[in-house]
Amino acid sequence: MKILVTGGLGYIGSHTVVELQNEGFEVIIIDDLSNTTIDVLNGITSITNKKPEFHKIDLKEKSKVEAFFAENKIDGVIHFAASKAVGESVNEPLKYYENNIGTLVYLLQAMQKNKVNNIIFSSSCTVYGQADELPITEKAPIKPAESPYGNTKQMGEEIITDTTKISDLNAIALRYFNPIGGHESIEIGELPIGVPQNLIPYVTQTAAGIRDCLSVFGDDYNTHDGTAVRDYIHVVDLAKAHIVAMKRLLDQKNKQKMEFFNIGTGKGSSVLDVIHAFEEANHKKLNYKLMPRRAGDITAAFADTTLANNELGWKSKLTLKDALRSSWLWQEKLSK
Ligand code: WQD
Repeated sequence: MKILVTGGLGYIGSHTVVELQNEGFEVIIIDDLSNTTIDVLNGITSITNKKPEFHKIDLKEKSKVEAFFAENKIDGVIHFAASKAVGESVNEPLKYYENNIGTLVYLLQAMQKNKVNNIIFSSSCTVYGQADELPITEKAPIKPAESPYGNTKQMGEEIITDTTKISDLNAIALRYFNPIGGHESIEIGELPIGVPQNLIPYVTQTAAGIRDCLSVFGDDYNTHDGTAVRDYIHVVDLAKAHIVAMKRLLDQKNKQKMEFFNIGTGKGSSVLDVIHAFEEANHKKLNYKLMPRRAGDITAAFADTTLANNELGWKSKLTLKDALRSSWLWQEKLSK
């Protein structure tokens, strides 16, 4: 079986390629290298000893997308390729709508033309906004997006849903909570470019002395310690969820043409919980200060993973400390 992974040299994409190859799938990667480096291809190969086929293609170039599908017989697509910086999307909405939505339309058109009928879509718990009830189930209402980035995830789900209604396309949207960590081989991991927006890369760069001090955005939330709560899931567990979801479609075990699954640990951790877990896991002291809230942040989000557990037969296995240990080892390697 040949699987196309768009954005396959990205953070979650690269970890998913490794797991696909471990499961015996043949993998083709498309990536425009706008937010990663070609070194990631070597990292994947050093783990699996199988160099995935790679095409440097910008999915905004419709003719290139059409040509790719005309020349390659694909059984399924895992679609990661998108811009994902929440703050940037507020300042550059059209860049996000073009890169995240325009490309999805070209991809789906090319799939339809070439009878590629299985897609796994990289979605996000951000579609729920601040959910009214915790833990969050897939039935939780979709809230108005807080950012153009979040809106592109909501729109992406709707575009795919509408396409499944009028074609042979079958799709699964995986709504990620907060992916963290890296592969145990320390050959691939998160490659933040510029000042990290996400918590864990900022933590590891502070521990490495690249950043002076971690700002904890808000200590007055209605949570157990006043800092915001998230569901931090190890990226390898998240990658494995894509394999079981793709197999579900290939084996035609899906119960609807469009399905949604929350992919998290089911456990909430506050920012201070993460800081303490990082210090314990890595025997490092972290320099941080309590600061005002960051605009647009929600108080708390963590997943109800019952549906993924029961329908996909998937459950997260790695712990927060496993992830924070691998993040630190990866940071040490990057710092060398
Ligand atoms: C986590 C917590 C911050 C940095 C976003 C996107 C989501 C997905 C994951 C792409 C929050 C706090 C952070 C810092 C801090 N992205 N924090 N100091 O905002 O939950 O989710 O990234 O798919 O779609 O919305 O993740 O890592 O930015 O923040 O205190 O320097 O850490 O306030 O409470 P977030 P995050």
